[in-house]
Amino acid sequence: MEENNLLTLIKPGKEYLESFLTLCRESFHSVHNTYLLRDPERFEEWKNSLFIRYEKDEQGIELPENFLPSVTFWVLYGEEVAGVVNIRKGLNDALKDYGGNAGFMLSSRFRGKKLSHILIPLVIAKTKEVGAGGEVLMTCTDNNIPSLSALKKIPAKKVERAITWADGKYCPVHRFYF
Ligand SMILES: CC(C)(COP(=O)(O)OP(=O)(O)OC[C@H]1O[C@@H](n2cnc3c(N)ncnc32)[C@H](O)[C@@H]1OP(=O)(O)O)[C@@H](O)C(=O)NCCC(=O)NCCS
Repeated sequence: MEENNLLTLIKPGKEYLESFLTLCRESFHSVHNTYLLRDPERFEEWKNSLFIRYEKDEQGIELPENFLPSVTFWVLYGEEVAGVVNIRKGLNDALKDYGGNAGFMLSSRFRGKKLSHILIPLVIAKTKEVGAGGEVLMTCTDNNIPSLSALKKIPAKKVERAITWADGKYCPVHRFYF
């Protein structure tokens, strides 16, 4: 478990399922990519299968083509699920280009409080643990201003800028190596 006073990364647990649903209700329609979340309108469909899916993702079972195994963590703020983190176990060409080692989000209610300054170092440390050390790559498109300014605040070993195919179009992307 990684802790830094306000935020904790935990393995998803049934005791926080209602809180995760609240996060999905708050944020499902306000993220540019919903892969970290679930459609709150379809809660009955996924409430039982969610944890099995997380387990399969970790074991690399029934993954979409070109997907690597990954581990999902929930970000706890007190007793509330404030965000979600997904850490890939390694990198393939697509992840080196745009996906990176880890994706993260905070629910809209928890944004704008500088929590990213705590969250991102926690994610970097956890990625090194999950991926067995080495460098951590995080990427961000130029138009994702909150994420870009948050990532720029964390000292990186190297930063690259490239044009890549992301979210259905060509766009400038930053690659941060921590
Ligand atoms: C990325 C994310 C975790 C950042 O969390 P946050 O709580 O907004 O972060 P902070 O409060 O620390 O703010 C980060 C920076 O963005 C700026 N910012 C926040 N919202 C902004 C907005 N709507 N417009 C412009 N700047 C904004 C803040 O001023 C801050 O910059 P500063 O430190 O120079 O003042 C959050 O916005 C999020 O979950 N976004 C959706 C998912 C996502 O994009 N994940 C990252 C994928 S690469």
